[in-house]
Amino acid sequence: MQLEQKIIVANWKSNHRIQDVPAWFDAFVEQDPKTTVEYILCPPFPLLSAVQTEIAKRGLTQVSLGLQDISAFGAGAYTGATSAFNVQGLGVTHVIVGHSERRRYFDETSVMVAQKIEAALASDLIPILCVDRDEAEKQAELLTAQQRARIIVAYEPVHAISTFGGHEDPIETTLSAVEQISVFFDGAPLIYGGSVDPENSLTYLQQATIHGVLVGSSSLDGGKFARL
Ligand code: PGA
Repeated sequence: MQLEQKIIVANWKSNHRIQDVPAWFDAFVEQDPKTTVEYILCPPFPLLSAVQTEIAKRGLTQVSLGLQDISAFGAGAYTGATSAFNVQGLGVTHVIVGHSERRRYFDETSVMVAQKIEAALASDLIPILCVDRDEAEKQAELLTAQQRARIIVAYEPVHAISTFGGHEDPIETTLSAVEQISVFFDGAPLIYGGSVDPENSLTYLQQATIHGVLVGSSSLDGGKFARL
């Protein structure tokens, strides 16, 4: 896969406020982001509209909008949950599901993650499914072949995520995990996440079997994110 077709996902997690959004874009644009890579920005829910406004105002056609999570339910009486229905009209195209922080802090199980994938696909949102190596097979088995054909898989070794320790694996270890996980998901596009920064991003992006990267800490500054 050519570098031009790769995906670079920003996961802001619970960082940034609405007043921080314009400065993030100022810094991003100043660093001349690539025009051919697909960037997917996943801000917290309350910032979606502000991020979408900046993308449109600045004509950033290579930048898409994503969610960090989604309710397994549709519209209705589900207090506190944000459904795919609620974000209609905001230009959202992707949604991260099953991130290790959701699994760890919010007790999300692989069954719940599968339900969220179903909800996302029913609303034509592309799920970016996060899995570690040891849960990948079971997670894949909870999806239908049709669902597996419509997702992006993010291989995220928990020990490599910066806030959980940030121990990066040698690239050979990563590539063997990628190869194994790809088989479980019938060859769905697979991206890598865990302590990706401007210094090491090419190591991942230049691999034919890795279709992109999912970035936490290094996505919080627009300039740093553009240098990936
Ligand atoms: P990190 O986070 O880039 O800060 O390691 C990645 C993630 O949590 O998805």
